[in-house]
Amino acid sequence: MRRNKVTVVGAGNVGATTAQLAAAADLGDIILIDIIDGLPQGKALDMAQLGGVKPFAGSVTGTIDWADTADSDIVIITSGMPRKPGMSRDDLLAKNASIVKSVTEQIVKTSPDAMIVVVCNPLDVMVAVAARVSGFATNKIMGMAGALDSARFANSISVELGVSIEDIKGVLMGGHGDDMVPLPRYTSVAGIPLTELMDAAKIDELIERARKGGIEIVNLLGSSAYYAPAAGAVKMAEAILKDKKNVISCCAYCDAEYGVGGAFVGVPAMIGAGGVEKIIELDLNEQEKQAFDESASHVKQLVDKVKDMI
Ligand code: 2OP
Repeated sequence: MRRNKVTVVGAGNVGATTAQLAAAADLGDIILIDIIDGLPQGKALDMAQLGGVKPFAGSVTGTIDWADTADSDIVIITSGMPRKPGMSRDDLLAKNASIVKSVTEQIVKTSPDAMIVVVCNPLDVMVAVAARVSGFATNKIMGMAGALDSARFANSISVELGVSIEDIKGVLMGGHGDDMVPLPRYTSVAGIPLTELMDAAKIDELIERARKGGIEIVNLLGSSAYYAPAAGAVKMAEAILKDKKNVISCCAYCDAEYGVGGAFVGVPAMIGAGGVEKIIELDLNEQEKQAFDESASHVKQLVDKVKDMI
């Protein structure tokens, strides 16, 4: 029996952390690819040696040659410029669109049956670029953002209430930007709706913090977050490879769903061996629907800006 093969594109902070967490989760053979010769090979060798202390089942290999990634089951795209202080995710648009385009062209040649999980920003647009360039079925392309944003929301809730983060299930929709839509009515602590445990003003404060969660770290670190983003990507890859059918907030293709009309945007989705197997349609109230529609239309405007490039 052949082991699963997971390629991580980009050996920077997000990519390297993704590769390490994927190996530790026993997702299979992990290939780390970058354009800087020595970087992926060095980091992968270090990770492979880590296996001597904390063993895992697969191998970890670094490369600059796309041939080594052939027939991957999943390709996780982390390559692209990270944010610096003062930059919004949207400021990365043109540069990262061209990187994702060329990476996707390589994926089509080397792993035509792969599922693609996009992690780079502006996230929802980069998912659309990967989809358009690959021509893959839309269920096979998805973006990791909701898992991260809801983890940030969950962390704030956990700290505020003093309860274990493992009891918190955050639900969040919309694009991965300042207008993302955390949903307190559907966020729960061991099944208890958040709205029963916290007053509205405090919830609003935590929603604002989740929306600004990325820039909070950029301002502290001078660059983008990577531990939680990498963990979000690995959670999605694991759901696919182990056919877990987890419901994960992620960037997925919606047509009739939520009246989106054919775009990739953040929604709760069931992820399994078939990729995005189902979009979960929540009964949004007027305010939630309006916030989601605004966020989705912002995503569509950004996709329009790069349509001539792809
Ligand atoms: C973040 O929110 C990098 O977009 C990512 O931290």
